[in-house]
Amino acid sequence: MMPASSSASKKVLVKSFGCQMNVYDSARMVDILAPHGFTETTELENADLVILNTCHIRERASEKIFSELGKLREMKLERNQSGGELVLAVAGCVAQAEGDEIFRRQKAVDLVVGPQSYHRLPSLVEGLKKKRRQIDTEFPLEDKFLSLTPPTPEKIRSRGVSAFVTIQEGCDKFCTFCVVPYTRGSETSRSVAQVLEEVEHLAAHGVREIVLLGQNVNDYHGVDDGGSSVTLAALISKVAQVHGILRIRYMTSHPLDMHADLISAHATNPTLMPLVHLPVQSGSDRILDAMNRRHTAEDYRKVISLIREAQPDAAFSSDFIVGFPGETDDDFEDTLSLIRDVGFASAYSFKYSARPGTPAAVMALQVPEDIKVERLHRLQTLIELQRHEFNQTMMGRILDVLIERAGRRDDQIVGKTKYSQSVHVSGPLSLVGQIAQVQITEVGTNSLSGIIVAQEK
Ligand code: 5AD
Ligand code: SF4
Repeated sequence: MMPASSSASKKVLVKSFGCQMNVYDSARMVDILAPHGFTETTELENADLVILNTCHIRERASEKIFSELGKLREMKLERNQSGGELVLAVAGCVAQAEGDEIFRRQKAVDLVVGPQSYHRLPSLVEGLKKKRRQIDTEFPLEDKFLSLTPPTPEKIRSRGVSAFVTIQEGCDKFCTFCVVPYTRGSETSRSVAQVLEEVEHLAAHGVREIVLLGQNVNDYHGVDDGGSSVTLAALISKVAQVHGILRIRYMTSHPLDMHADLISAHATNPTLMPLVHLPVQSGSDRILDAMNRRHTAEDYRKVISLIREAQPDAAFSSDFIVGFPGETDDDFEDTLSLIRDVGFASAYSFKYSARPGTPAAVMALQVPEDIKVERLHRLQTLIELQRHEFNQTMMGRILDVLIERAGRRDDQIVGKTKYSQSVHVSGPLSLVGQIAQVQITEVGTNSLSGIIVAQEK
């Protein structure tokens, strides 16, 4: 079928769905296929291999994959009719959860690979020469990260000045609504040396912001060279020392693992950005208990105020689920009052989606769809108001903006504030990768605009 290592360049397109970790994994898939003759394309018509890197977190996310595959099947048939080929691969969490069921649901799929085995992609693609279908959804014992190929300097530059680095994967918390412990497996942390090597490589080729990723990132406990376990706070201080790194973020955190050293890192480490993504899911103790979150709404409020004490500039984003089984009007009101108390800079919110195999899916008192819709609407209206108010407080201020890329207009460049708000300014492209001080003159719905008043580094 397809030559896995050939001088004839084949084109691969990886389409990412879901979380940032998938974005990271998609880039790694491109990197690992590169030495095997694959160059990346963003044009479907040019692709010889299409990989859908999928998300299983909610039903809609999963269903989207199968409708996408339906369209790709048409393309594959057309290609075959004209004597060409198109290899279809499903990676990520749907691959893990559904396994070879995917071949049954969509016969055009050639390859299924889970999130813990995608480092074997080159040999799986090669294997298609001998066998029509290839599947690998194992949780291998070998360290996936050791088998990955570092991105080339050109790739790093093309991906921009902010880069994701996965430092921790999987989850042992078993929230009753969540598929992650089943699709990503149990918690593992990468070693400090591995993380630093990756960060140094990225920084050497122009990356200025590192986003440390993990499903439970603040429970990071990788080992250092001496074999001792290291916390996220300690890792952050090491990453901050890497030459060229100006900003560090981390996500996603669990309130239970917001330990004192991480909170004080927000006070002492200016490289650590003050926007903290801290999902709470619900403001009702009854629902938090049913979700197996293992903390109360009061515990969450306490964590927020500790972070604010340490870093008065801190702002928060969160995830919310409405319509979890058994959620009453009163429970939902508790969520709204928690939102009012905390005041969020932004948040993601979702209708509860029953996921097969999770405990909540078989709980009594599933909430009707129309109630979920109404609650989601009320919650999002409140969050939107808070986001708007938060953005308005930026008006007239002089903010550090990390310039990331060219804007749409000729002389326009775009960067991010420390709260991840996009800022449009006039300025030369040579500022990309540098921090400019920008006075905010306009606050739009989705971005800010301003003028550069000074250039910092
Ligand atoms: N239904 C709805 N939302 C969910 N999330 C996770 N599982 C579900 C589910 N079954 C949301 C949570 C989580 C975010 C990544 O997705 O809010 O923090
Ligand atoms: Fe989706 Fe969660 Fe898997 Fe990310 S880890 S792809 S959000 S199910």
